[in-house]
Amino acid sequence: MENLFRFIDDHQDSSRRRCIWVNGPVIVGAGPSGLATAACLREQGVPFVVLERADCIASLWQKRTYHRLKLHLPKQFCQLPKLPFPEDYPEYPTRRQFIDYLESYAKHFNINPNFGECVQSARYDETSGLWRVRTTTSSGPEVEYICRWLLVATGENAECMVPEIEGLASFKGEVIHASDYTSGEKYSGKRVLVVGCGNSGMEVSLDLCNHNAYPSMVVRSSVHVLPREILGKSTFELAVFLMKWLPLWLVDKLLLILAWLVLGNIANYGIKRPSTGPLELKNTKGKTPVLDIGALEKIRSGKIKVIPTGIKRFVSPNRVELANGDQLEFDSVILATGYRSNVRSWLQESEFFNKNGFPKSPFPNGWKGSKGLYAVGFTRRGLSGASWDATRIAQDIGSVWKKETEQQKKTTSSIACHRRCISQQF
Ligand SMILES: Cc1cc2nc3c(=O)[nH]c(=O)nc-3n(C[C@H](O)[C@H](O)[C@H](O)COP(=O)(O)OP(=O)(O)OC[C@H]3O[C@@H](n4cnc5c(N)ncnc54)[C@H](O)[C@@H]3O)c2cc1C
Ligand SMILES: NC(=O)c1ccc[n+]([C@@H]2O[C@H](COP(=O)([O-])OP(=O)(O)OC[C@H]3O[C@@H](n4cnc5c(N)ncnc54)[C@H](OP(=O)(O)O)[C@@H]3O)[C@@H](O)[C@H]2O)c1
Repeated sequence: MENLFRFIDDHQDSSRRRCIWVNGPVIVGAGPSGLATAACLREQGVPFVVLERADCIASLWQKRTYHRLKLHLPKQFCQLPKLPFPEDYPEYPTRRQFIDYLESYAKHFNINPNFGECVQSARYDETSGLWRVRTTTSSGPEVEYICRWLLVATGENAECMVPEIEGLASFKGEVIHASDYTSGEKYSGKRVLVVGCGNSGMEVSLDLCNHNAYPSMVVRSSVHVLPREILGKSTFELAVFLMKWLPLWLVDKLLLILAWLVLGNIANYGIKRPSTGPLELKNTKGKTPVLDIGALEKIRSGKIKVIPTGIKRFVSPNRVELANGDQLEFDSVILATGYRSNVRSWLQESEFFNKNGFPKSPFPNGWKGSKGLYAVGFTRRGLSGASWDATRIAQDIGSVWKKETEQQKKTTSSIACHRRCISQQF
């Protein structure tokens, strides 16, 4: 506590900044990961503050996903801890149902994030032994939160990846990232270049087809495509089941045989499979296999064209030159080129997080750093990974919190009194 006062004295002059002492963890991000952690902390009786740059919870789902999106894993793998999906939800909830669920989840656990607060920097202050988290708001002064625990929940998909392709800026048609794509309606009759063949590229191409557009999809390297279901059972669920009994390499082999039986040889359509199996590739490189919900059928029928090579450059006004020298004309371009973490742009720390903004230790060891730093939702295991992290983090902090609270109750609460004084000083 002495340190804390020294720290405060050092910073008395920062008059333009509002400082707030948080009696508990600060959670950065109000997506599913931040909400899940907040709910678990609430159950442990630990107070917290959630900081969210957007003006709503789950901004990725509300503002950066297309309308036709459905969860691609069965609902039991996507619900957050302590509150299941409503019983009448289908096996694969729609984007709207998922958002509604998250809204009611936040309400149920009384989670009220500070919206419009984008974390610009966070660093551990060795002198005080506390985290200093600075945010900017669209209105009002800069705010500095001071806390003992910092929970990073900004997501694996915080920023869009926009590749640098020669001449892209000179392309005269519309160029957007998949995160700005909502529906294929306005593309009817148009020739659309979809760059990328992950789940986004495949589903955007399918949606374009369903709206009578003419998509061509760039597949520059290789990708695993698996059917979402095999004999009416979720492929993911099947993989989880098999993994209980069999080694990963064998499960990969079985999945590929089943995929071949259901989908045929995808090389016939210009799509190469990686030499590493789908689960191993996900574990080692984080590359998600595509779970096919109909795009492959459109590829087979020629309604989605596959461009099995990279793009060399864009040639004004609306031509694209491929790596093999061919030139094609398009009306619009959709960059389904993926996302990245933004952690390294604001967190001043390099021991726990690697240069790509992911914890250095892979799942299941990447949730806890040192000095009160935690990561939730960076497991490359989607929503089920986020729930796993959230539960552990809340248990970890909760046990310390309970011990200290009980000790405090036994003595006269001088620390709590100091804390009140501190928040008034700023
Ligand atoms: C199109 C799409 C579909 C997907 N479908 C599935 C699926 O079906 N199943 C599945 O398991 N996973 C799916 N995912 C993966 C997805 O990332 C997770 O489902 C989930 O959204 C992860 O939650 P999160 O809270 O970790 O991250 P996010 O949902 O990205 O939430 C992070 C939050 O942090 C906020 N934030 C970021 N930086 C800052 C900052 N500096 N200051 C303050 N706030 C900040 C963001 O605004 C955001 O609200 C999908 C991803 C995409 C892109
Ligand atoms: N229904 C759903 O639930 C759903 C739907 C969409 C997305 N998602 C999830 O969202 C996450 C992100 O998926 P995503 O598809 O957006 O991204 P992604 O899986 O990272 O795929 C990005 C794609 O873009 C390609 N690419 C990148 N730069 C390129 C360039 N310069 N030229 C050509 N191709 C380029 C990549 O090719 P290389 O492989 O060659 O790099 C890859 O095919 C994943 O976890 C995914 O599962 C889920």
